[in-house]
Amino acid sequence: MGVPAARIVFDEDDRTAVADAVTEILSTGNLTLGPWTQRFEEAFAAEHGATHAVAVSSGTAALEILLRTVGVNDRDVVVPAVTFYATAGAVLHAGGRPVVADVDAATLALSAATVEAALTPATAAVVLVHIGGLITPEVDAIRQLCDARGIALVEDAAHAHGSSYAGRAAGTFGRAGAFSFYPTKVITSGEGGMILTESSEVRDEARIYRDQGKGSFGTNHHVRLGAAWRMSELHAAVGSVHLRRLKEFTENRRRVARRYDTALAALDGLTALPEPSGCRSNYYKYVALLPRGTDRARFKQEVSERFGVRLSGEVYDLPLHQQPVLAPYRAGALPVAEDVCARQICLPVHSDMTEGEIDQVVEAVASVHRDLAG
Ligand SMILES: Cc1ncc(COP(=O)(O)O)c(C=O)c1O
Repeated sequence: MGVPAARIVFDEDDRTAVADAVTEILSTGNLTLGPWTQRFEEAFAAEHGATHAVAVSSGTAALEILLRTVGVNDRDVVVPAVTFYATAGAVLHAGGRPVVADVDAATLALSAATVEAALTPATAAVVLVHIGGLITPEVDAIRQLCDARGIALVEDAAHAHGSSYAGRAAGTFGRAGAFSFYPTKVITSGEGGMILTESSEVRDEARIYRDQGKGSFGTNHHVRLGAAWRMSELHAAVGSVHLRRLKEFTENRRRVARRYDTALAALDGLTALPEPSGCRSNYYKYVALLPRGTDRARFKQEVSERFGVRLSGEVYDLPLHQQPVLAPYRAGALPVAEDVCARQICLPVHSDMTEGEIDQVVEAVASVHRDLAG
């Protein structure tokens, strides 16, 4: 039996709970912005120790809404070079200009120094991405830097459901945080996103934006340039059921990560991205760096063909400033990001991974590493 790159886990109880919820929703006809959405928001906020949550149609929508709420039109927004396209896409759709900054090799995230190097007089916001679920210990220094300059800190927490640093959860460090419920994420609603914030003003604005910029649910007065960014009740039901598993899934993923840590510590040259002290990652991704010069495509092919182990997609193989569509925003070399994007691999982590599967991955990675390095 092979080990797939990702596995989406809805056990029989959860499938039954979703089916019951769908029957209830269809029989009431309350299909969008109803009680399931409200319950999902409340549960997600409580899970993260946040005051307000606003459910939306995707993580990208959550980011664009937050950037519109900050007001980035014709302003600069600092984004890390190591992130998904949507982080920069949301800036552009909100009318801003992405300024791509280098990352810290220890966390693949922005640091206070890389943010500072990317600031301009027109900077309106900084988007901090918690890559693979890991929250950088620099988060407080970045927040202070932003506060001192009147710049909004927005978290792209698309990877980081339930992750924490110093006991504080992802999504609670800046003005607001944006989460994704895309299928591969630790918690999914099929498609969907969530905003967390301590600010009732941001919450109210986000509610307006997600529903076509309408001033209130019952009127046709459009006061903001919003869009159809609502979450349907069906998606909210799936997300609510899955969210109940967050703690259990995170524990399982952390168990897998600790086994990978031990295995990689015994391999010369193949290094895990260590979990910083104080950080508790959800291990959405387990990132490791190949030695310089290793052919990543061949490494992945051999673990797959010889051992049936599919490595999951990198986070990310091409840095943002080298994405073709962002060519107009390219501003020179970003050496750390270029190096880590070229060398990283992600070992498969499933929320229900068995010890046998972990053994299989460890054996595959160790054997191929030894063969290619030797
Ligand atoms: C870092 C990051 N930001 C934003 C997004 C966008 O989320 P969505 O696909 O839900 O729009 C994703 C994921 O898919 C992501 O990984």
